[in-house]
Amino acid sequence: MVNPAPCAWRRRKGGLILANSDKLDMLVICGSLRKGSYNAALARMLPKLAPGSMAFRPAPPFDDFPHYNFDIQNSTGFPAGVTAFADAIRSADAIIIVSPEYNWSIPGALKNAIDWVSRMKDQPFANKPVAVQSAAGGLLGGARMQYHLRQSLISVDVIWFGRPEVIVNFAAKKFDEKTLELTDQPTIDMVKAQLAAFEKFVRLICGKG
Ligand SMILES: Cc1cc2nc3c(=O)[nH]c(=O)nc-3n(C[C@H](O)[C@H](O)[C@H](O)COP(=O)(O)O)c2cc1C
Repeated sequence: MVNPAPCAWRRRKGGLILANSDKLDMLVICGSLRKGSYNAALARMLPKLAPGSMAFRPAPPFDDFPHYNFDIQNSTGFPAGVTAFADAIRSADAIIIVSPEYNWSIPGALKNAIDWVSRMKDQPFANKPVAVQSAAGGLLGGARMQYHLRQSLISVDVIWFGRPEVIVNFAAKKFDEKTLELTDQPTIDMVKAQLAAFEKFVRLICGKG
């Protein structure tokens, strides 16, 4: 599958430049693999807190990717799961990554997925608008992970969205203990503000509106 410039494929396919009302196809990548994850809980909140013009879908799983090894790529090619993950990235209008911070950086499984995708021709991440959110137990709420993620993804030519940032610190205090619903109003407002701004940013880049 050839990676198109954002949204250009739609113009080619339909012969039309899409109007403001067209939905944006948002791919959500969650960096935590655990069931009770605060980041997964935050990701589940996105449809409720986003402008109605954004539609969200989860990225295919990446937890079973082998550790990146050129010998695997060279002998048996890209694993099927990696190809599915890459195709999901290619076909999205934009990407939101919601991830914790592990030891001041990117969780290993997520970094491994990025490393696999980075080796592909027709780079799946190229020209994709990307926004990031993090929830973490510490005071800095995953800010250091965000900075490292930006460094890695700039290397594969994403179009990075800067502000407003979503940094959820002391995560356990911001979600309902039982339902994992996000209950902290300032955090809800922060997520809404980011999504509204990201929607405008993606449309500007995609020429959708
Ligand atoms: C291996 C590991 C490393 C961690 N490193 C950090 C860290 O650097 N900064 C931080 O704020 N929290 C750190 N934590 C705590 C996580 O923020 C916390 O477990 C959080 O709930 C993980 O996100 P999740 O709920 O989405 O799985 C770490 C947790 C683990 C398991």
